[in-house]
Amino acid sequence: MQSILILGATSSIARACCEVFASRQCKLFLASRNVAELECLASDLRIRFNIEVDYAFFDITQLDSHEIFFKKLIDKMGVIDGLVMAVGLINKLNYQKVIATNFTGPISFFELFVKYLVIQKKGFIIGLSSVAGDRGRKPNYVYGASKAALTTYLQGLRNNLYPSKIQILTIKLGLIDTKMVFGGKYPLYLAANPKKTAIKIIQALDKGKESVYIPGIWRIVMLIIRFIPEKIFKRLSL
Ligand SMILES: NC(=O)c1ccc[n+]([C@@H]2O[C@H](COP(=O)([O-])OP(=O)(O)OC[C@H]3O[C@@H](n4cnc5c(N)ncnc54)[C@H](OP(=O)(O)O)[C@@H]3O)[C@@H](O)[C@H]2O)c1
Repeated sequence: MQSILILGATSSIARACCEVFASRQCKLFLASRNVAELECLASDLRIRFNIEVDYAFFDITQLDSHEIFFKKLIDKMGVIDGLVMAVGLINKLNYQKVIATNFTGPISFFELFVKYLVIQKKGFIIGLSSVAGDRGRKPNYVYGASKAALTTYLQGLRNNLYPSKIQILTIKLGLIDTKMVFGGKYPLYLAANPKKTAIKIIQALDKGKESVYIPGIWRIVMLIIRFIPEKIFKRLSL
């Protein structure tokens, strides 16, 4: 039975991942800032899957709290086999908060968690990154830059940990139908379903993959976008 930590557990994608892990009888620890929602989510998972679920408040931008949070987590759970990092923010007005939430915060926590995994000699990290990190574009370039940094960090981490039994999986998400994109100017008819997305994430984990685009079509879309010469690209509104 695996014990898994889900950071940003109130995200619809993370929730759907929780359900897949719960169907495998994993023990779960959920964390984010919305404790009321975590409580509902935890009791729903306990009732439907008859598993052990615990939860706690966690604000990734409070870097000083990471070590204490992690210590309490290990005291409660004993062992952690894997981490899903679903924390994320898209906000055009507050670039410091976007960088703190999508990059500085996750890296601070990964550094702690990796030290633990290295001692344990096994485990996994799933990082939810974005296709927005593949090329800077007008509508969301601070968010894109923070996700590009996250992707690069995870790539370096994977390289650093090879050939250990620690799997670092980068998920480059395309447009997914969640509250993050609700109300934005996105073609929501193209948005993928969080449940199908979660199933694909866990399949990639099971297959020992390093980095995947979900939905897969984004691999081709981003290949084309990356190849557009900068002289043309700077004039486009994609
Ligand atoms: N939806 C998409 O199209 C899309 C595309 C590419 C990548 N992604 C990535 O996928 C991940 C999940 O996103 P989503 O679409 O499911 O959006 P979401 O519902 O807005 O989820 C974001 C999650 O981050 C948590 N969070 C935000 N700020 C936090 C903080 N300071 N400390 C701790 N937790 C914090 C939120 O929990 P609380 O509010 O409870 O704290 C929530 O659980 C994100 O990393 C996002 O960047 C999404």
